[in-house]
Amino acid sequence: TTAAAVAATSVVVLDRGNNTTCTINLHGATVVSWRVNNQEQLFVSKLASFDGKKAIRGGIPFVFRKFLLLPFHMWMRSQTVFHLPSYLAQFGPWTFGPQHGFARITRWHLDRAPERLHNGDVEAIFSLMDNDFTRSIWNYQFRITYRLILREKELHFHIGVYNPSKDLSFSFNMLLHTYLKVPDVRRCQITGLQGCHFIDKTREGAIYQEGREVVTVNEWTDRIYQHTPQEHVITNVVSGRKMRLHKYNFPDTVIWNPWIDRSREMSDFGDDEFPNMLCVEAGNVSAPVILLPGTAFEASQILQVFMHII
Ligand code: BG6
Repeated sequence: TTAAAVAATSVVVLDRGNNTTCTINLHGATVVSWRVNNQEQLFVSKLASFDGKKAIRGGIPFVFRKFLLLPFHMWMRSQTVFHLPSYLAQFGPWTFGPQHGFARITRWHLDRAPERLHNGDVEAIFSLMDNDFTRSIWNYQFRITYRLILREKELHFHIGVYNPSKDLSFSFNMLLHTYLKVPDVRRCQITGLQGCHFIDKTREGAIYQEGREVVTVNEWTDRIYQHTPQEHVITNVVSGRKMRLHKYNFPDTVIWNPWIDRSREMSDFGDDEFPNMLCVEAGNVSAPVILLPGTAFEASQILQVFMHII
């Protein structure tokens, strides 16, 4: 694929051979498919919109500037040290901006078309810089680079956010909103959350501490686990396999499933689809990252399919 060919389309495919591919839609740099030996690992709703306007419902949307995630009272409870100015900094014109930020509804640029590395892995690099649209929502200069590497059983995500300004700092929240495809969400278990505090968005943002060694999902679930360890294992994903999620510089993990009632409220999500998805989202959610002028922030994630069946 050449960059010129891609300019005409919206989709970039990394192909590693053996029916192992990763497809990225430039709309939001959303990973819309990840196949390992022809087996799809990601959930995309059958009602997802690809109109280039709405965010794509499923795959892995890139969430940047997700400030409206937490209503004030929830945000306040989630902070160990309370800074009113940093909360207020999130408002202004942003109050009317998109709920999950503009990055997932903006067309990204393909910086490096898929390229085979010496070891057979395939890499592609995407970027997003401030433009008239982003500045109309959030008036800052920024540059995000998003490097994806497709390996035999793994997908690597490397993110860099740069503040090119000489004098202005900015702050942001960021999240890889991963929708895993699962045969039955009730049978999934998520490790690595025991002992962590979480904001329960289904209970007015109350904060609890997780007591379970493995977390299961049997009802509407919307939790921001804070200061989670670098690794989670999710069992019973496609074909009864396990998925390992490894993260670096993403202190929080969101677990989300809309269940029955909330599914009905979403126009781009089928009423019967909730048993087949589980969102496990690595991010900086409960506290913003503050980026001083001329500095950069980096974070990464690795998804890995365990080949043995459990
Ligand atoms: C999750 C949030 O990350 O995303 C939920 O914790 C939210 O509260 C969900 O409902 C989906 O959000 P959206 O904007 O894609 O409908």
